[in-house]
Amino acid sequence: MAARLLEKRILVIGAATGIGRAVAAAALAEGAQVVIADQSEDVGRGTANELGCHFLACDVSNEPSMISLFDGAIAQLGGLDGLVNNAGLQKAGPLEASTVTDWDALMAVNARGVYLATRLAIPHLRTAGGGSIVNTSSLAAKRGGPGITAYAASKGAVMAFTTAAALELAQDNIRVNSICPGFIDTPFNNPAIDFMGGREAQAKLIKTMVPLGRQSTPEEIAPLYTFLLSDESAYVTAQAYSIDGGVYN
Ligand SMILES: NC(=O)c1ccc[n+]([C@@H]2O[C@H](COP(=O)([O-])OP(=O)(O)OC[C@H]3O[C@@H](n4cnc5c(N)ncnc54)[C@H](O)[C@@H]3O)[C@@H](O)[C@H]2O)c1
Repeated sequence: MAARLLEKRILVIGAATGIGRAVAAAALAEGAQVVIADQSEDVGRGTANELGCHFLACDVSNEPSMISLFDGAIAQLGGLDGLVNNAGLQKAGPLEASTVTDWDALMAVNARGVYLATRLAIPHLRTAGGGSIVNTSSLAAKRGGPGITAYAASKGAVMAFTTAAALELAQDNIRVNSICPGFIDTPFNNPAIDFMGGREAQAKLIKTMVPLGRQSTPEEIAPLYTFLLSDESAYVTAQAYSIDGGVYN
C-alpha cells in the first residue's frame, strides 16, 4: 500500500511529547516531511532526533515567536500542506478559587495559539493549492467537567474557531477539522487527576464514564490525525471528531 502522506509537508506544533509526538511519528511513517515544534526545547530536540525530523522552538501564545516558527518551518519544508495545532495547557481547580491569570494563560496557549498558527499557515497552504489543518480540542469542550471550566472554555473556543475557519477557508481548498480526545494517558492530565483525588479516583471515573472502559494511548489516536491530514479526507471539513472510547454520543 502506498504511503498515505507521501510528499506532504507537515508542521506539528506541541510535539515534544504525548499526542503530538505520536502524530509526528505516524506522519513520518506515512512518508511525510515533518517539522515538529514545541516550547520544551530539550525534550523537543530529543524527540526530533529519535524520530528523524527537524525541531523548532516556539511559544504558541507569542506572535513574534510564531512568525519566526513559520519562517523557519517554511524554509525547512519548502512549503506547507498540513498543520497540526496540538500544543496545550491544563490547569484544574474549583471555579470559585480560580484566577484571571490562569484563565488568561489557558486562553493564550489553547485558543490564541491555534488562531495564530492557523492565520500564519493560510498563505502557504493556499500556495500549495490547499491543505489540511487539524486542531486538538477536547472532550472537555463537548462535555465539560468539574474543575476544568477555563480549560473547557479554551477548548470550546478551538472547536468554534475550527468551524468558522473551515467555512471561510473552504474556497481555498483548505480543510480545517478538530479532534476531541477523551482520556489519553499522558502526564498532561496530572492537574485534573490531582483535583479529582488521585489515580484511583481517575481509574474509577474512567470505568464508569468510558464505555470502552479504559484510557487510550497517544499512538492509538494518531491514525485519526493521519486520516485528516491525508487526501483520504479530501471531502471532510468543519468537523469535530470525538475519539474518547464512546463517552460523547
Ligand atoms: N491527554 C489527554 O487526555 C487529552 C485529552 C483531550 C485533549 N488533549 C489535548 O491534547 C494536546 C496534547 O496533549 P498531551 O496529552 O499530548 O500532553 P503533552 O503535555 O504531552 O503535550 C502538550 C505539548 O504542548 C506543549 N506546549 C505547552 N504550552 C506550549 C506553548 N506555549 N508553546 C508551545 N508548546 C507548548 C508542551 O510542551 C507539550 O509538549 C493538548 O492540546 C491537550 O489539551 C489531551
